[in-house]
Parts: sequence; structure tokens; C-alpha cells
Amino acid sequence: MPNNQLTIALSKGRMQDDALAMFARAGIVVEESELKSRKLIIHSADGRYAFILVKPGDVPTYVEYGVADAGICGRDVLLESQADVHEPLDLKFGYCRIAVAGKRELMGQDYNLLATVRVATKYKRIASEYFQQKGVPIEVIPLSGSVELAPLIGLSDRIVDLVETGRTLKENGLDVIEVITESTARLVVNRASFHLKRQEVGSLIAQLTDILEKERENAKHA
Ligand code: PRP
Repeated sequence: MPNNQLTIALSKGRMQDDALAMFARAGIVVEESELKSRKLIIHSADGRYAFILVKPGDVPTYVEYGVADAGICGRDVLLESQADVHEPLDLKFGYCRIAVAGKRELMGQDYNLLATVRVATKYKRIASEYFQQKGVPIEVIPLSGSVELAPLIGLSDRIVDLVETGRTLKENGLDVIEVITESTARLVVNRASFHLKRQEVGSLIAQLTDILEKERENAKHA
């Protein structure tokens, strides 16, 4: 790989298309044949960028360990991983909430601080810290997907999960009980790359900042 090439870790799945679309608006284009392939490493047409396609929760790891110079992932993932990475830009897309959810009858109910609440989640750290701050003892039940099932089949009282449109909760008879925090996509940069590849990283940040400013202007005049 040429030394001035930047390797960028992208979350596969819901954020991948939005991230690549933003790069395209910034003039960093990936050819259709690459996009349609099942390759896990794809390149921009100008060869300046290599994109590695990874599980969302793994983006901070690839960037922290420096095998990717930069990455794009949700704030939710960063809060959960606590990886030591530089976070220079909020890219504004991929908005979602991280919320406590459960069956509707739980809405407005106070917690019994003497009873342990079972919470199923992919976000062990976020859930633990949130309930610890409230002084509510919890037992975290770690799951890696289809978390909404847990309250339906009696595995947990509540879940802590990502809510984007709210459709999954609604269609499973669940509701948001409390919003813990909000999340959008972030650009993250490896701390060493930030200095060693200052010019390349700086130009990427400048290009993305330019797009964000243009979008802000367009939204103002819409
Ligand atoms: C996420 C999340 C919810 C759903 C929320 O799951 O865990 O299940 O999306 O989206 P909505 O509010 O728009 O319905 P994901 O699709 O990532 O799959 P998973 O269940 O395998 O984690």
C-alpha cells in the first residue's frame, strides 16, 4: 500500500451507504464494480483511499490499533467501546437514540431500588453506567441481536437498545421508557496517523467539513 494512502474502516450495514455517499459528495468516489462486489477491502477510484468493511462495533478497534488510519461509526459504538481514538467530526447522518425500552405497562413506573432489574442489551457498558448513576441495581443480560425479543419471552424486564425509526419496538408491542442518549455518525482517527499522516488526514477532514458546511447552508435555504 502506498504510504500516503489512507485506510478507512467503515461500518457494514446501515451506515455504509450513507458514509460512501458522503465520501462521493466530497469527491472520493468508489467505482460501481467495487461497490457491488463482496470484497471487504475496496478502493477509491483515485487510489488514495482503501476502505475496509467491518462490523460496526469493531470500527474503534481497527482505528485504535492503527490498522485503519480513520473510521466512521456511531457515537453509540464509541461510548460503548471507550477506544482511545481522536474524534474530530460529527458527520450528522445516522441519527438514532439509545434508549431503555420495555412493555408499555412499565411506562412511568418508578424503579424499586431494592430489586435487581434484568436488562438485555448489546450495550453492556452504556446500560451499566446509566443504571448505576440512577442507583438502580441491574443484571445485564448480554445479547448480540434481536434484543427486542427479550422482554417478549420473559428473558428481561427491560432492554437498552438503539432506536432509529422506532418500528421494531412498536411492532413488538414495546415502547421507549427513557432516552439515555443520542447518536450520529462520527469520523474517528488513529492518534498516531493524526500526526504521521497529517497532510492526508487534514485534507480528508477539510473535505468532509466542506460538505457538512454546504449541507448546513442548503438546509438553511430549503
Ligand atoms: C437495530 C436495533 C433495533 C433496530 C432499531 O438492530 O438493535 O433492533 O435496529 O431500528 P428501528 O428503530 O428503525 O426499528 P439491527 O437492525 O442493527 O439488527 P440486530 O437486531 O441484529 O442488532
